[in-house]
Amino acid sequence: MTSVATSPVTRPATGTDPLALIDVDHVRFYVANAKQSAFFYASAFGFQVDQINDLTTGNRQSAQYLLTQGNIRFLLETPLTKDHPAADEIRRFGDGIKDIAFTVFDAEAAWKQAVRNGGTSAQEPTTRSDANGSVTTAAVHTYGRATHTFVSRTGKYALPEVKQGAQFMPGFRPFGAFALNEWNRQHPCGLKFVDHAVGNVEEGKMNRWVEWYEHVLGFSMFKHFDDKDISTEYSALMSKVMASGNQLIKFPINEPAAGKKKSQILEYLEWHDMTPGVQHLALRTDDELASVAELRRRGVDFLTIPEAYYQGVWNRVDAMLRQHGHAAVKEDHQRIKDLGILVDADDEGYLLQLFSKPLQDRPTLFFEIICRRGSQSFGKGNFKALFESLELEQERRGNL
Ligand code: FE2
Repeated sequence: MTSVATSPVTRPATGTDPLALIDVDHVRFYVANAKQSAFFYASAFGFQVDQINDLTTGNRQSAQYLLTQGNIRFLLETPLTKDHPAADEIRRFGDGIKDIAFTVFDAEAAWKQAVRNGGTSAQEPTTRSDANGSVTTAAVHTYGRATHTFVSRTGKYALPEVKQGAQFMPGFRPFGAFALNEWNRQHPCGLKFVDHAVGNVEEGKMNRWVEWYEHVLGFSMFKHFDDKDISTEYSALMSKVMASGNQLIKFPINEPAAGKKKSQILEYLEWHDMTPGVQHLALRTDDELASVAELRRRGVDFLTIPEAYYQGVWNRVDAMLRQHGHAAVKEDHQRIKDLGILVDADDEGYLLQLFSKPLQDRPTLFFEIICRRGSQSFGKGNFKALFESLELEQERRGNL
């Protein structure tokens, strides 16, 4: 298993479309205590604590920690004053994802185009520069509390430089010695990039946000195997997937639907001030078993998959793979079961995936660890098994 998963960056540098996305620049979390969150994501998920922008660098508004792994950049931000906009959001939503930022050629041009397309501005273009170069950011509101920031970078702040360890933005400095960084280099979790980010929106609003991604950001509906198999009996949700032009990132949009029990989407909304937001972030690995084994060893709390799941899974998956002329699942079946990993197959191949429990006390944001072996879908065949086990968790919280 030496194949390397890289981000599907295919846009040529000569693109004239201002909304052509180069990469996922970073994902910004608003958290109540970034110092402690940084420790959690480093310890549990193997992130490097790389850079900081806080009181020690003259930032008197917030503390920001840059965490990295593979091509994933998390920015954990905590307000330092009661008037910082993050303070009110943390009061309403708890810890969670505020923004998914895209690297573009010209952030101002991208923002202008998005606003012309009907988007609402969340932040006007702002450029910070110094002797090393410049970083321009501008943002638009998407569903609920979430935003998308466009980021364009010059000089030493260009993304390839940042990936090599250069300063992230003006105001940041190297974090310095952090004991877990060396440990994490020696014991990698193997997370490579953000595969998809799922948004939970209000009942009846899914199509509105699908159209928003289409019209404002120029995304298109991602046709995939799951489309043929919308099941609401167990999942109690409706979902459509939007993809950026170069399929750099995909955004499935969920809305609650009537099911046998209370929808998990509704539970999310009830603990998120009835406000849409990011439900889960799927992080890609090219070795699911090694990643999940290491994450479990570190104490990451994953959903418990019922024993019965593994009685039916191999027949279901193998039949699908045979039907479409694909090789069988190559990973050891017993280890997949021992590690409690989910498997699904479609007309293009198979995928391995597993979902963490919520990352904070509220049943809101969680992570998915996903490995694709040809399949480009999202594990619809696992919905029944997954949602049954999610329901057990919901029941334990008294929210069913
Ligand atoms: Fe997912």
